[in-house]
Amino acid sequence: MSKPEPTDVEHEVKSVDLIVSKSDEEGNITYVNPIFIKISGYSQASLLEKPHAILRHPDMPKVIFKYLWKNIKEGNDVVAYVKNLCADGGFYWVLATVKMAKNPDGSFRNYMSTRRCITQSAKQTISDLYAEWLSIEKSEGQEAAEAAFNSYLADNGITDSSSFNEYMKNINK
Ligand SMILES: Cc1cc2nc3c(=O)[nH]c(=O)nc-3n(C[C@H](O)[C@H](O)[C@H](O)COP(=O)(O)O)c2cc1C
Repeated sequence: MSKPEPTDVEHEVKSVDLIVSKSDEEGNITYVNPIFIKISGYSQASLLEKPHAILRHPDMPKVIFKYLWKNIKEGNDVVAYVKNLCADGGFYWVLATVKMAKNPDGSFRNYMSTRRCITQSAKQTISDLYAEWLSIEKSEGQEAAEAAFNSYLADNGITDSSSFNEYMKNINK
């Protein structure tokens, strides 16, 4: 499926909306709830078995997804801001909590993401931050973007995934 051309049209996520999806170990979508389908603008059939990257917006820096995958694979929950691309090229911002669910025997069951709306001030703060990392990624490369990301974590006393999650949640207050 070809990706839509991004536009400046923002799709509203309401405070009651809880946008849920589940995936397999590779991030391929195995479940989406009705609000996920509605806001993304894709049909359920065109989402299932597709990679979550179908929603990837070009304004998202790679460092966030690298951090996300490293942590969820280790079984750590991640709370992160995500700008997603809709089927019509529009976008929506969410604060996602992504985690691994396990079977009773401890084996992998799925990854799950639950996404909620974010405040205007969080949108501003995070879009500036992501734009900075993305610009470093484009001009100096991935390693330099990771160095900028890691020094941001260190400067803000973020030492592990719990302090990362708390810090991110606080931005949305
Ligand atoms: C449960 C789950 C939910 C995800 N949700 C999103 C999402 O809403 N938007 C997104 O761009 N990536 C999401 N991802 C991350 C994607 O798998 C992928 O890493 C990301 O889109 C970057 O794609 P790329 O690595 O192909 O550049 C999710 C991953 C998992 C495991």
